[in-house]
Amino acid sequence: MQVDTLILGAGAAGLMAAAHAGGRVLVIDHARKPGEKIRISGGGRCNFTNMWCAPENFLSENPHFCKSALARYTQWDFIELVERHGIGWHEKTLGQLFCDERSQAIIDMLLAEAAQAQAEIRLQTSLSDLARDAGGFSATLTREGTATPVRARNIIVATGGKSIPKMGATGLAYDIARQFGLPLVETRPALVPFTLDAEQKASFAPLSGVACPARVTAFSGPGFEEALLFTHRGLSGPAVLQASSYWHPGEAVSVTLRPDINALEWLKAERKEQGRKAPATVLAGLLPKALAQRLVEDAKLTGTLADQSDVKLHALAQRIENWSITPAGTEGYRTAEVTAGGVDTNALDAKTMQARGIPGLYFVGECVDVTGWLGGYNFQWAWSSAMAAARAIVGGR
Ligand code: FDA
Repeated sequence: MQVDTLILGAGAAGLMAAAHAGGRVLVIDHARKPGEKIRISGGGRCNFTNMWCAPENFLSENPHFCKSALARYTQWDFIELVERHGIGWHEKTLGQLFCDERSQAIIDMLLAEAAQAQAEIRLQTSLSDLARDAGGFSATLTREGTATPVRARNIIVATGGKSIPKMGATGLAYDIARQFGLPLVETRPALVPFTLDAEQKASFAPLSGVACPARVTAFSGPGFEEALLFTHRGLSGPAVLQASSYWHPGEAVSVTLRPDINALEWLKAERKEQGRKAPATVLAGLLPKALAQRLVEDAKLTGTLADQSDVKLHALAQRIENWSITPAGTEGYRTAEVTAGGVDTNALDAKTMQARGIPGLYFVGECVDVTGWLGGYNFQWAWSSAMAAARAIVGGR
């Protein structure tokens, strides 16, 4: 079997590339269905892009690498595609765009686009014996025990990262990179909940299920102002997931609860207004009751709010605004939304995603060392990087 382009992975990036690479395209995937991560994404409604998508919303050893692909196929291009297919969408918050109905609409759209381009998709198919020679690439495809040799001028590797192995995530992209001598940036789980040690976990157990607006900052990253959620394992919620992408083991994370207010000013004003009440009762007007109770206990306040000196209120405000916690770890690839690190961008051409020195070999999507924030950025990277490779292949024909 001879194809122009063999695409590995029928996920977000692979399907996007299939629709645009031109010529004879074959997409293979070992899963039973295409686009499974799209299906479960965004709580079943796929947060397919972000209106404010910009290079600053991505982590990479080379923060400039993503600029070209993102500029040449933007969020507005993808929104136009979604609209052309009559898929209803809405902004939920912070520029995050979701389908009005099920995520399946995005998968169906990508499959329709790939079908229109006459790309063939073979599921439950695995790859082995990948090799390169003067004429391009050769490999063996195996489906239900039957092996078929294939030759391809181009290979687009779109097999994603290591996140959620239960869904079929593998390190195939990294293995292929290694096989061709390309460097890798060490991978780590990102957009992932933090776990706590046994002592911390016991101490936070009564707060399990409590959510609160917060600013969460990992040592080396920006502060993220979204919800923080206490879970029975540790800390989660969008603010925590965002910070986790910047976190390294052993580092402390700083948390400001209710970053929209000045806690000390608020407490002083409440002391005048509601001085006869217990501090925890008053603080429950600002924070969930269980959390308010916990902070007051930690600050060792007794008596009414009026009984509290400025020093005591300051101590309580510090607990609200200046909380530092060192997670024991993260929940790992089992629940991580994405994998940070991956194929080193130094080994790739930013305009085409082609491996330097290996004509015809492309890496796109999550397997590359470009990781988006929570909020539709990772799909936009999948669409944009896939388009960069597809256009390069079409342009080079
Ligand atoms: P993707 O993982 O989509 O596809 C890779 C494909 O390769 C899969 O079909 C897999 O079966 C196949 N494959 C892997 N190994 C193989 C092998 N050895 N042989 C053959 N095939 C192989 N992002 C976002 O922007 N908005 C959102 O709402 C969400 N929500 C979300 C929820 C959850 C629960 C998760 C886990 C992730 C998200 N994401 C997200 C992240 C997003 O899903 C992810 O970044 C993209 O799907 C990456 O696209 P890729 O095409 O690179 O990989």
